[in-house]
Amino acid sequence: MVCLGNICRSPLAEGILRAKLNNPDIEVQSAGTCGWHIGEKPHPQSIKVALKYGIKIGHQRGRKLLQSDLDYFTHIYAMDFSNYNNILDLCSNDFQKSKVHMILQNGGQVPDPYGKSDKEFEKTYELIDTACGVIANQLT
Ligand code: 4NP
Repeated sequence: MVCLGNICRSPLAEGILRAKLNNPDIEVQSAGTCGWHIGEKPHPQSIKVALKYGIKIGHQRGRKLLQSDLDYFTHIYAMDFSNYNNILDLCSNDFQKSKVHMILQNGGQVPDPYGKSDKEFEKTYELIDTACGVIANQLT
């Protein structure tokens, strides 16, 4: 699960997908395409909205997407077109590129809620929750 900072959207996506899969054999991780928040906890508003739905993400720490992630993981989901394109630019072969998808499979994006209201984080949660429901069905 990949966004820009790995503090707002992708930590939610990691927590929600892991909960929906409920399968320790499937490794779910998140990362950012930028390194601004490496080592940081998720954004307090993401932690808060997740907790409202019983999902704990406070243990997660920000990290930057690595070249090696493109080999290690089988599916890579981007929150928006900008991050999608940045991930594709990081790919060094067509097999890596074939693993990269948009998290929403209806042509939409999960907008960046950074600096916005709790209501926007709620909308972010709902979008990611719906997307992860589809993905969890596809992966199991
Ligand atoms: P995220 O949100 O990509 O969903 O983690 C952002 C977090 C931080 C910044 C931008 C977006 N930032 O500019 O620091």
